[in-house]
Amino acid sequence: MAGRFITFEGIDGAGKSTHHAWMVEFLRAKGHAVVSTREPGGTPLGEKLRGLLLSEAMDLETEAMLMFAARREHIVQIISPALAAGKWVVSDRFTDASFAYQGGGRGLARSKLQQLEAWVQGTGTGALQPDLTFLFDLDVAIAAKRLQGMGQVADRFEQEKTDFFERVRQAYLDRAKDFPERFRVIDAGSSVDSIHVLLEKIITSVC
Ligand code: TMP
Repeated sequence: MAGRFITFEGIDGAGKSTHHAWMVEFLRAKGHAVVSTREPGGTPLGEKLRGLLLSEAMDLETEAMLMFAARREHIVQIISPALAAGKWVVSDRFTDASFAYQGGGRGLARSKLQQLEAWVQGTGTGALQPDLTFLFDLDVAIAAKRLQGMGQVADRFEQEKTDFFERVRQAYLDRAKDFPERFRVIDAGSSVDSIHVLLEKIITSVC
């Protein structure tokens, strides 16, 4: 049986990582072979790039290219081999995050992101795209409060202001409108239990 590629997206503080971890355990309990991974990261080189991306000031286009360089390594080393072996790949973020953060948040031209996407993921029928994307949508002020409550030191993205996250949120919602067949928008303000009921329903019906 062919593998499945599922991605989790949302602004910082939307709770996506908690739901990602839950989904991985849910699918494993169902007997699927699951690769749990994340971006930026997922490989030894990708994790080093993540360290730089989250801490070093850099030019916006450098940032976008490093995101896609880490992604290329992730695809070649982890995602494509796992899918070819029939495994489920569940990734905490993928390319939609680049369109949302570098595109929406920072204002990088969509055409440049599309070029990087085509280069790294291929084009046409052979292009790698998620089968299903969960977008955890949350009011920016609530997400900021949640982040503060976690008490961790804010990274370079988390330090951005409200208007940056408003643009990221809107760019995610625009992506969901552009690709309705693979996106499922989840109200991240609902209770954790009700979100898990919904995720179970969706994953069972779609995959
Ligand atoms: P995380 O906190 O969800 O692990 O993600 C790390 C940060 O990286 C997060 O603030 C979003 C950012 N990011 C981008 O800006 N572009 C991307 O393509 C990806 C994958 C993440």
